Amino acid sequence: MTLRLGDTAPDFTADSTAGPIRFHDWVGDNWAVLFSHPRDFTPVCTTELGYVARLKPEFDKRHVKCIGLSIDPVESHKGWAEDIRETQGHAPNFPIIADPHRKVAELYGMMHPAHDEVYTVRTVFVIDPKKKIRLMITYPQTTGRNFDEILRVIDSLQLTDAHRVATPVNWKQGEDVIIVPAVSDEEAKGKFPKGWKALKPYLRLTPQPK
Ligand code: BEZ
Repeated sequence: MTLRLGDTAPDFTADSTAGPIRFHDWVGDNWAVLFSHPRDFTPVCTTELGYVARLKPEFDKRHVKCIGLSIDPVESHKGWAEDIRETQGHAPNFPIIADPHRKVAELYGMMHPAHDEVYTVRTVFVIDPKKKIRLMITYPQTTGRNFDEILRVIDSLQLTDAHRVATPVNWKQGEDVIIVPAVSDEEAKGKFPKGWKALKPYLRLTPQPK
């Protein structure tokens, strides 16, 4: 099954470093970031897991729970966590799923056999509290992910869910946003009291709404 944006994230049960989980229950009313690792004790993933642990306060602020996945068993994940603490200064402070039979990996299309027949590629799924998939990114095994970018997209998703705006290229928190074309100038007067700058009739920039 090919997953697409807006699809319901497949539910599953799995063993993890935090014990057995049922995914949808574990997400609860939060947002979630589900990300896969080719396998344990690999260098790029070691840096990624330490960085995501360091970002926990940023994910918490946004009500986002993170969960990793690798095909190795829980005991192996726990041993690896020590190395991550030692080398990155932060051990994983979120669960890592053990997926030895590639059950979750297959559900989420994390196996890309023409790239690697045995190990998962590096995927990231952002899932909202309704369990809808809102972002999917797939990286090759040799490229570490940019989790600052994942936070930036979550900021954009949460903002644009709440207001009728879109975020421009390379947008970051606090910068001007775009009034969506479906909002007429008349409607915009009520919704965006700070006004806007119209570079073109379809490109109206307004301060980020609170
Ligand atoms: C890694 O996760 O560090 C990795 C995996 C496969 C090839 C190279 C690096």
